[in-house]
Amino acid sequence: DGHDDFLQCMSLQSNNHTSISNIVYTPNNTSYSSILNFSIQNLRFTSETTPKPLVIVTPVHESQIQPVIYCAKENGMQIRVRSGGHDYEGLSYASEVPFVILDLFNLREISVDAENKTAWVQAGSTIGELYYRIAEKSQTLGFPAGVCPTVGTGGHFSGGGYGALLRKYGLAADNIIDARIVDVNGRILDRISMGEDLFWAIRGGGGASFGVILAWKIQLVDVPEKVTVFTIDKTLDQNATNIVHRWQYIAHKFDKDLFIRILIRRGNSSEDSKRTIQATFQSLFLGGVNRLLPLMQQSFPELGLQREDCTEMSWIESILYFAGFPIESRDVLLNRTQPNVPYFKAKSDYVQKPISKNGLEGIWKLFFEEEAEEAEMILSPYGGRMDEISESAIPFPHRAGNLYKIQHLVYWEEEEVEATQNYINWIRKLYSYMALYVSRFPRAAYINYRDLDIGVNNNGNTSYAQASIWGIKYFKNNFNRLVQVKTKVDPANFFRNEQSIPPLNSW
Ligand code: FDA
Repeated sequence: DGHDDFLQCMSLQSNNHTSISNIVYTPNNTSYSSILNFSIQNLRFTSETTPKPLVIVTPVHESQIQPVIYCAKENGMQIRVRSGGHDYEGLSYASEVPFVILDLFNLREISVDAENKTAWVQAGSTIGELYYRIAEKSQTLGFPAGVCPTVGTGGHFSGGGYGALLRKYGLAADNIIDARIVDVNGRILDRISMGEDLFWAIRGGGGASFGVILAWKIQLVDVPEKVTVFTIDKTLDQNATNIVHRWQYIAHKFDKDLFIRILIRRGNSSEDSKRTIQATFQSLFLGGVNRLLPLMQQSFPELGLQREDCTEMSWIESILYFAGFPIESRDVLLNRTQPNVPYFKAKSDYVQKPISKNGLEGIWKLFFEEEAEEAEMILSPYGGRMDEISESAIPFPHRAGNLYKIQHLVYWEEEEVEATQNYINWIRKLYSYMALYVSRFPRAAYINYRDLDIGVNNNGNTSYAQASIWGIKYFKNNFNRLVQVKTKVDPANFFRNEQSIPPLNSW
């Protein structure tokens, strides 16, 4: 079997055989499939045709990672590191070449230092676990990361990471102050020993190209004791087109304490026979309702926000609210699995000029097509803190000049290849329709919404020119510096995948 030599190597490398056998799974193990599948978030990559790992290793201690890197290299296997398993294209758990999954879910210690407003977070923790542990220590500290609690900090922070605190505090990656990583030679490095170039690269450049991130030290941020949330739906006959149109001109200019995103779906009109679009305005305000109402009256009267639409709560309750859970159910933040895993395909865009009403109406039309029954568009406002951080501060380059980001999503339930292709064709059609209205040269994209349609590497033989096709979209000019860092820290391109940063010598 392909994994025998690897296993033998692992036991030679380890001084404690029993502990290794407890953390290594091959297809012969009864729990191999459940370990493989438990954190997969996209059913597209659970089929029989999805290539499976020869081995899964689930270290319980940092020292167990070095042998995995050594033995994978020795045996010509690739490593896919998985933290939360949310990669949109399954890159953390599927590869066309013989590979091992290094799954970090057992490395999820979180220590919160409320006095100094910092925390060390092991990369296998989810953001839900992080939010929970922060709230255990303080009601007035938070962290600006994503909305879905099961997202892993390993992948999420290394690709940027954002949620409802984005306009006030920027990205998760903007708030990382130290990190620990295992490099290609098995050395464990921190910020000082890895140096500022590598530390820069892993905060937004995607961790997978550079090593195995073990832990992050993060700067916690202040949140008020009381925040206010609201959700308001508008259908076409409730003026949705005009209100969405208006939002584009103002949402990035609102007070930094105010975040209003829009979710767009096909809706049910009051008359059953009539198709409509539903735009859902969902908001987090960092303050009480008495400050919010006059602010909304002044900045966005078109939405018609009323006091009864608003609920005051603690920041941690707002996390549950945004994630769609009852605000009393705080313990769900510790769950690492989601109840309903979908089939989906997603893409991202950045908008720099408001889309005309005609342009919006063209989108609505596409949402009336058959494949769009479960499609969604999420519009997240930028501005605020995002405008203040320079494009090169970290690899994530999408800053001033962007009004908002769009995530395009299509979900489905059928397993069949043909159905899959129809949905994917639909989202590609939407994406080409959008080309007129979004950023150009490059048409920017967000690496955490990974999309292999925008370009891929040849396994191990990728030229700089080829990789820049997708690299410039994710990173703009920062792509060049990422290539330099890669060339320095992993010149033989051991840590690679379909969209990893190539070193300069690999063609
Ligand atoms: P996963 O484990 O799949 O890893 C993703 C990538 O990072 C892979 O290439 C992997 O190899 C690499 N990697 C993971 N751990 C690593 C480590 N320790 N060292 C080195 N490389 C590592 N994003 C966002 O910004 N805001 C949001 O609100 C959401 N919401 C959201 C909801 C849902 C349901 C999904 C499926 C996804 C999101 N995302 C998101 C996107 C999310 O940020 C993105 O998928 C992250 O990369 C996921 O990180 P995981 O660790 O979970 O993924």
